[in-house]
Amino acid sequence: MTTYVFDRAHVAEQHRCLAAAYDPVTFGRLARIGIRPGWRCLDVGAGGGSVAHWLAARGAKVLATDVQPDHVPPAPRLTVLRHDVVCDPLPEAEFDLVHVRLVLRHLPERDAVLRKLVSALKPGGWLQVDEFDNSYSPVLLAPDRRAAELYETFLAVKESVFDAFGVDGAWGRKAAGAMVGAGLVDVDPRVVVHPWRAGSPGVRLLAHTTHMLRDKLIAAGMTDEQLVAVREVLADSRFLATSPVVYSVHGRRPV
Ligand SMILES: C[S@@+](CC[C@H](N)C(=O)[O-])C[C@H]1O[C@@H](n2cnc3c(N)ncnc32)[C@H](O)[C@@H]1O
Repeated sequence: MTTYVFDRAHVAEQHRCLAAAYDPVTFGRLARIGIRPGWRCLDVGAGGGSVAHWLAARGAKVLATDVQPDHVPPAPRLTVLRHDVVCDPLPEAEFDLVHVRLVLRHLPERDAVLRKLVSALKPGGWLQVDEFDNSYSPVLLAPDRRAAELYETFLAVKESVFDAFGVDGAWGRKAAGAMVGAGLVDVDPRVVVHPWRAGSPGVRLLAHTTHMLRDKLIAAGMTDEQLVAVREVLADSRFLATSPVVYSVHGRRPV
């Protein structure tokens, strides 16, 4: 199995936060494709399964894959498979739609995986890639300068942990180019940013990351006292930041 930065513990809450924060963007984009009953769909690295469930509820036959598939609840028309997209094969020309959100950034082999996903599409089939670019997420308001600097320090240390695990935190901005490089046509990125306030799903996700990555953040130089203080900043009603840039990119396999 490939190395993955997040430990198994705490992933259920991570999946809940991801769904609350990003399903509206993902579902809006999938709706534009126009999912048809009977379509064969693949959700790679399905996490908590919210996207796979949304597709199955529209009558698609869905395969949800993940190296940790236990968090995807069962549903009609949904098949869940333990599958490492780096090492394990996928069928050729099988799917009308392949969706992948916040997975390719984690995989140093992302270009080869992207080509594998394109091969799994039927001619004319759609790929939707939803990814972040973490390199743009400025703090706009904070209780004081110290709080703003602490937030920026936390983001920088988190990125250094990601780097050490082969995560490309800015891959969102490269997704459209990579999709063209993998042979897709009609490549169409949409760009979304959100205001991040205390209590918003993205900020809950970030606060959760201070717990999920605690040991790695400490090893990278943060202290527990700083992590407690970061949680306090994120819970402060005077805090406001811009979310990372979310890229939702469509492409089609040539007919
Ligand atoms: C950040 S989570 C995103 C989950 C879901 N796609 C979402 O956006 O809500 C990344 C997911 O990719 C899965 N994953 C990591 N490496 C993988 C691999 N090599 N093959 C398949 N899934 C993988 C993880 O287990 C996790 O569920």
